[in-house]
Amino acid sequence: MRIVVTGGAGFIGSHVVDAYVDAGHEVLVIDNLSTGNAKNMNATARLEQIDIRDAQAVAQVFASFRPHVVNHHAAQIDIRRSVEDPVFDAEVNVIGSVNLMQQAVRNRAEGFIFASSGGAIYGETPHPAVETAAKAPISPYGAAKAAVENYLFAYRKTFGLNSVVLRYANVYGPRQDPAGEAGVVSIFTSALIAGGGVTIFGSGYQVRDYVFVVDVARANLLARDRLFSDMQTPRNPDESAFNIGSGRATSVNALYEELAKIIPASIAAVHAKSRPGELMESRLDITRGHAVLGFSPRVKLADGLLQTVAWQKNTKGTSGTRTR
Ligand SMILES: NC(=O)c1ccc[n+]([C@@H]2O[C@H](COP(=O)([O-])OP(=O)(O)OC[C@H]3O[C@@H](n4cnc5c(N)ncnc54)[C@H](O)[C@@H]3O)[C@@H](O)[C@H]2O)c1
Repeated sequence: MRIVVTGGAGFIGSHVVDAYVDAGHEVLVIDNLSTGNAKNMNATARLEQIDIRDAQAVAQVFASFRPHVVNHHAAQIDIRRSVEDPVFDAEVNVIGSVNLMQQAVRNRAEGFIFASSGGAIYGETPHPAVETAAKAPISPYGAAKAAVENYLFAYRKTFGLNSVVLRYANVYGPRQDPAGEAGVVSIFTSALIAGGGVTIFGSGYQVRDYVFVVDVARANLLARDRLFSDMQTPRNPDESAFNIGSGRATSVNALYEELAKIIPASIAAVHAKSRPGELMESRLDITRGHAVLGFSPRVKLADGLLQTVAWQKNTKGTSGTRTR
């Protein structure tokens, strides 16, 4: 099957490309390499270095490749940048996404998979959020993710484009750029390996769900299967959505302690004032993904951290090329 993976030179997208190539699919990557790196990419996938905002370039690529499935991971992922420049964020994350949907319909693609964010659209979750929980995005980045989910529902109703939305928890693992804005695991690992200290914003008791990137890549295989299953027409956007996480909450302090043990490092973390807008609790209920997609996370946090540390030690964490 021909699959376009946008953002396939990035952290998560490159693992998704690996999973699709291993499953025998023909993969074309669309990526402008703004945060991604061609070095991340599977050698058998082709790269078109274009911007998803460039409707004409996207149209040309789609017309010649004629994908059966579009898997959309390209995004402006920096929440703080979305606050500083919401228009840029919306241009990439909303308009860029609509460009792709438009071409998916024009070229009769059979389905669309979208990387959304469980951490950014539910707001505070004192209890693990189920897919139908109220949406309360507090950043333009989260608002854009919710908007694209709504667009996909409208595209299903209006143009018949099938879609599956994966709402990720905090994804971590090899190829995550420690110089980036997201990814506390990557940032802590890189600092500790370099023998430096780590700053924890706030008390460190804020909890997150950390999910290993290879588990996330497998969820994308299951999402592809779902597109070709006997899917009922969704009655609302949540019916196409699945939380993808570990189903466990871990505090930033506990994460730091685990990493310090693995590396090993003895410098105590320094605490700084918490950052405005940061959530205290972000937890996902992953029951629906298990029941409908057959997804369950396989990699335990300690094992995933070991693999992440090993990768950073080998590469000195130099996968990213930031060009913004
Ligand atoms: N990392 C996480 O924990 C997490 C959590 C929830 C959702 N997500 C989503 O998963 C997706 C992948 O995130 P990631 O962590 O791998 O980030 P990443 O920065 O490594 O990957 C994003 C990729 O998109 C490309 N890109 C950015 N703007 C583009 C544009 N205008 N045109 C073409 N390509 C462009 C970048 O070069 C990069 O390769 C994003 O949609 C992100 O919002 C990530």
